[in-house]
Amino acid sequence: MNYAKGNKTKGGAKLKEKIEQLLETKKKIELGGGEKRIEKQHSQGKLTARERINLLLDEGSFVEIDAFVEHRCTNFGMEKTEAPADGVVTGYGTIDGRLVFVYAQDFTVLGGSLGEMHANKIVKVQQMALKMGAPIIGINDSGGARIQEGVDALSGYGKIFFNNTKASGVIPQISVILGPCAGGAVYSPALTDFIFMVDGVSRMFITGPQVIKTVTGEDVTQEELGGANTHNKISGVAHFMDNSEEECLNRIRKLLSYLPSNNLENPPAYQTEDDINRVEEKLNELVPVNPNKPYDMKEIIRLLADNNEFFEVQEHYAQNIITGYIRLNGKTVGVVANQPRVLAGCLDINASDKAARFIRTCDAFNIPLLSLVDVPGFLPGTDQEYGGIIRHGAKMLYAFSEATVPKVTLIVRKAYGGAYLAMCSKDLGADQVFAWPGAEIAVMGPEGAANIIFKKDIKNSDNPIETRQEKIKEYRDTVANPYIAAARGFVDDIIVPSTTRPRLISAFDMLQTKRETNPAKKHGNIPV
Ligand code: HXC
Repeated sequence: MNYAKGNKTKGGAKLKEKIEQLLETKKKIELGGGEKRIEKQHSQGKLTARERINLLLDEGSFVEIDAFVEHRCTNFGMEKTEAPADGVVTGYGTIDGRLVFVYAQDFTVLGGSLGEMHANKIVKVQQMALKMGAPIIGINDSGGARIQEGVDALSGYGKIFFNNTKASGVIPQISVILGPCAGGAVYSPALTDFIFMVDGVSRMFITGPQVIKTVTGEDVTQEELGGANTHNKISGVAHFMDNSEEECLNRIRKLLSYLPSNNLENPPAYQTEDDINRVEEKLNELVPVNPNKPYDMKEIIRLLADNNEFFEVQEHYAQNIITGYIRLNGKTVGVVANQPRVLAGCLDINASDKAARFIRTCDAFNIPLLSLVDVPGFLPGTDQEYGGIIRHGAKMLYAFSEATVPKVTLIVRKAYGGAYLAMCSKDLGADQVFAWPGAEIAVMGPEGAANIIFKKDIKNSDNPIETRQEKIKEYRDTVANPYIAAARGFVDDIIVPSTTRPRLISAFDMLQTKRETNPAKKHGNIPV
């Protein structure tokens, strides 16, 4: 619709008449692609762009901008095609009273496809969010580049990617995939900090099933290729998976409660009802005496956290490492923890990538880091070596070394070799390192170490199996304990597990005024 033409009133028209026309036009724009397309959207179990925004933001807080924007395309009869709001609803509002910017692609208008003006609207809110230092949330539901607009559409994506990159590390950027997100369009979400997906609704892929069939001959459904399960469990592209749009939008609100609005602020602090001196007897018994027996590290995390609440990030991916947010004394802390239940808590390629990205997100947004260590080493094998575990593992070393936020490490049980360092040892800048009395800190696990340094004793023994066990015990008793590391000052204190929560709270309180800067440089060169 040409709003200027459509809203022409006779010279003598009263303001009242003009106001009525304005309201009518707005109403029409708010209907997006019209009743039929809205019905189709609903019948697919999807909400409309405006319904999504209203659920996401505090009630009544949304203020739309650029509703009158129109496309300028005249190819393929597009001059006659109406595209209310040009297929994307943009504006600002609040979440828990805090300012956020938002855009939601409207699939009922030209399939939410992105053309020049649609992109300009997104870029405008990106730039406003950056100027105002407020998070931006992008809801993606689109057929991709508007085919009729050709290179103008491609340019639009380019501008969005550029602004995503400029805003990275300055304001939290959150992407929500609530429909298709295909082709190069996936790279805007990929450049943001967090990607949310809904099971059965979201789809992300660079090339769809038909192209794949043509090029590689593979048969794959859209869901298998780019559904929420795929990107949360296999590719690690996404961070969160929900069963409904409502659940997903609610979870975004929760995530924002852990984050500051921008890199110059601290995350919001809340009054906690939980006792900051809580002694948790369960922690004295939770870790099995047998070092090869698994347990659930998440139980420890919850016992330490305010109100036992843990907001996990990338719950379904690389489960041998756990990442997420807790609060200690009402303040956000980012947790990186080995999970002995999965791959014995070894670090591998995916775990290193997951942890490194999480650490950098925390550091960018002034979120202190807590490492909980129970790691037997890096995962051995040709798969890992050929896949570049050296390069990927280095990301963790880099991310922890580079992070200047308060860093506290707790060695729960095993801390072996390079993985001990990679989990933020003293040498990588941990401000406080605690160990539980059962901690084993050594160059490698006692089994492997005994095989090497007692090779001859074992070989020459009358009973090699028994001798090996004796030597493993000897090694463990002599070297694999926290006292040697504490004697060198690599461990600041060996603590009673039940007292961990008050000790952590005290450490993070002490570190609140930490000031540390990295050497001036254009930017570092993390091994990507
Ligand atoms: C223009 C589009 C469109 C697009 C959909 N529509 N995608 N219009 N450009 N990219 C329109 C349709 O013509 C239709 O209009 C309406 O949106 C709804 O689409 P349907 O096909 O009826 O919906 P559905 O059956 O649900 O299928 C959705 C879909 C399909 C799977 C997304 O529309 C589709 O495959 N679209 C094309 C996807 C694509 O290849 N995009 C380009 C990717 S490449 P009417 O008027 O009939 O309702 C790319 C490059 C980006 O994006 C590069 C960035 C660097």
